[in-house]
Amino acid sequence: MTSSTTSPPPSGDSTTAERPRVPFSYLDRQFADLEPYLRDIEAFVRTGDFTLGAALEQFERRFAEVCAAPFAIGVGTGTDGLALALRAVGVEPGDEVITTPNTFVATVGAIVQIGATPVFVDSEEGFVIDPTRIESAITPRTRAILPVHYTGNVADMPAIMDVARRHGLEVIEDACQAIGGALNGQPVGSWGAAAGFSLHPLKNLNVWGDGGIVVTHDADVAERLRLLRNHGLRDRDHVAVFGVNSRLDTLQAVVGNRLIDEMDAITRRRIEIAARYDEALSDLEPAVRVPERRPGVRHVFHLYVLRAERRDDLLRCLNDRGVEAKIHYPIPMHLQEAARSLPYGPGSFPVAEADAGCMITLPAHQHLVDDEVSYCIESVRRFVGA
Ligand SMILES: Cc1ncc(COP(=O)(O)O)c(C=O)c1O
Repeated sequence: MTSSTTSPPPSGDSTTAERPRVPFSYLDRQFADLEPYLRDIEAFVRTGDFTLGAALEQFERRFAEVCAAPFAIGVGTGTDGLALALRAVGVEPGDEVITTPNTFVATVGAIVQIGATPVFVDSEEGFVIDPTRIESAITPRTRAILPVHYTGNVADMPAIMDVARRHGLEVIEDACQAIGGALNGQPVGSWGAAAGFSLHPLKNLNVWGDGGIVVTHDADVAERLRLLRNHGLRDRDHVAVFGVNSRLDTLQAVVGNRLIDEMDAITRRRIEIAARYDEALSDLEPAVRVPERRPGVRHVFHLYVLRAERRDDLLRCLNDRGVEAKIHYPIPMHLQEAARSLPYGPGSFPVAEADAGCMITLPAHQHLVDDEVSYCIESVRRFVGA
């Protein structure tokens, strides 16, 4: 269950060296009462229905409902979900896929995993791809656009879909951080040909290990995804295509089936906390800057990210006070060692590079109590001298 005024588990006067006073991870709080989960798992183990089992089908149906999509296909990880979705819409080795350098490595890893080439386009104010820059990155080899709903913000999908339509490109949404998000009332996952979500333990909807799920409105894409995640097997003896073994574990779906009931409450609590931060920190410019919020976006705040002038000092100060702030991430993808064969370098993407130097993430999860949110606010304001 989510929290607002109830007390967190005791943490004493500790700092990050022991236990942070305001922790980034909430798993101990979320699973403080294990009994209901263990009961579900005990019943499940007795069925022996471990692979592509009934609980997985149930989870897929329920996840599809949350995304207002007809099909959801559980896969091993969010990364695999993106890679398989790209394959399912026809992206092939040698094709180019446009995305942003301001993301977690997995977005780029999924493109590279299938032999395609990532082509970066700079991000904008909300840490998502800048749609006005996409067109100039399109070449005859471009096959798809992979916008990332980074931090739980929703990329400008109408503008992206417009470019994609004009150039005959597929769009796969990286919705790994954005379950429950929407733009103009339309959920993430319902804009492009398909969307990949992560169920990693620290995602808004999480399971007890790795997991992912892809949603789509296209029955053919859904069918290809079901084949690709399960060795390409049409049935026990017939292989339609060479696929991979990347099925969402039915055991994880058992956990997911319990947590998906809380999805709406989780999302609402995160939005509530973010709104408090926005309001309480919006007068600290230029030292600390709250990003502009695009109208019509249901931003689900997987990450609550600010821009700070003296970011590293602020991070140290918050950590010293027991606020487990973090950086997501200090090096944009095009400047990573792994990207050295790509035609980019310092200066290629000024917005993403500037953001890598000033982004800072505050804890904003659904298990924070109001006093903890106040303490985070007070800590940032103290640092700024406000
Ligand atoms: C933006 C983004 N894309 C892709 C992924 C990959 O998800 P997973 O860790 O489930 O493979 C993640 C999560 O870690 C992510 O944050």
